[in-house]
Amino acid sequence: MTQLTDIARQMVASGKGILAADESPASAGKRLAAVGMDNTPENRRAYRDLFLNADGIGQYLSGVILHDETLRQDALDGTPFLTLLADNGILPGIKVDEGLTPFPGFDGEELTRGLDTLPERCADYAAMGARFTKWRNVIHIGADLPTPELVHTNAITLARYARIVQDAGMVPMLEPEVLLTGDHSLSRAEEVTRDVLATVFYQCTRYRVDLSAVILKTSMVVPGDASGEVMDHDAVALSTLRVLRDTVPPEVPGVVFLSGGQSAEDACRNLAAINRAAQAEGGAPWPLTFSFARALQGPALAVWRGDDEKVAEGRETFLTTLRRNTAALAGKDCA
Ligand code: 13P
Repeated sequence: MTQLTDIARQMVASGKGILAADESPASAGKRLAAVGMDNTPENRRAYRDLFLNADGIGQYLSGVILHDETLRQDALDGTPFLTLLADNGILPGIKVDEGLTPFPGFDGEELTRGLDTLPERCADYAAMGARFTKWRNVIHIGADLPTPELVHTNAITLARYARIVQDAGMVPMLEPEVLLTGDHSLSRAEEVTRDVLATVFYQCTRYRVDLSAVILKTSMVVPGDASGEVMDHDAVALSTLRVLRDTVPPEVPGVVFLSGGQSAEDACRNLAAINRAAQAEGGAPWPLTFSFARALQGPALAVWRGDDEKVAEGRETFLTTLRRNTAALAGKDCA
């Protein structure tokens, strides 16, 4: 087993998941504004500290994805966030894409920036101790979306990213996010997600990516948020598993899910249903775990709201959310 495959396997270690804490300063600002806080570097430090300094997170988390700012930042007590993670046995990851940009000629579609400067940035991050990376593409579903050109271009970008990251000695997490916004049905989400994932793995093979050293971060297959369809967790689980079985090569060490704007409750229940269905089918070829941002952070943020007096309660809420989601990995419901 290569060293990278070994890291990838640690990222999906049994019974654990990955916290996405890699919001850009602008996105972190939206989370802070939602709880009445200003978007300052100090408030962002306190926001990260709430989660990364919670006691015992290493029991539930194999990895945390950071943004550049946090990778270089100290916690409130002066300990570098990277040291906190190391002390908890948690692998540090880094978001390396530089966000979205309109796809010229293709109204309503977006590409992801950051490939040109990626080799140099990856060398720095690897030297600082990052062990894995994340790159997010987005795919909008609409009447005429996504276009084949968007799916194709995004897949090549993701494949090229992955190869650059592997050459720098880190494990690439591939995140082609099929957005849940829209009025599309569950079956349309299944069709699009199948096309997207099949294209990603096809291009990864063409662009010489070692598939035994990547992690797929995917959307669950869910109906659009304006579809009027009721979320049926068992139907989500079956659609999601069908797509993964049809598209993800067995040598891929693990599959993790984003929450994508689902409620914390729905994300956890869907995760449990997916793992239950996989067990009922005799097991999946890969561990299936969580890599949520909003569905892990949301409940704790709503308790904390920037109040020093509420830090302990916010952390307790975070640990409860982690406990529920790790129980979901064994198929247990998220009560
Ligand atoms: P959400 O779980 O909030 O979708 O975030 C996951 C993520 O990493 C998005 O890039």
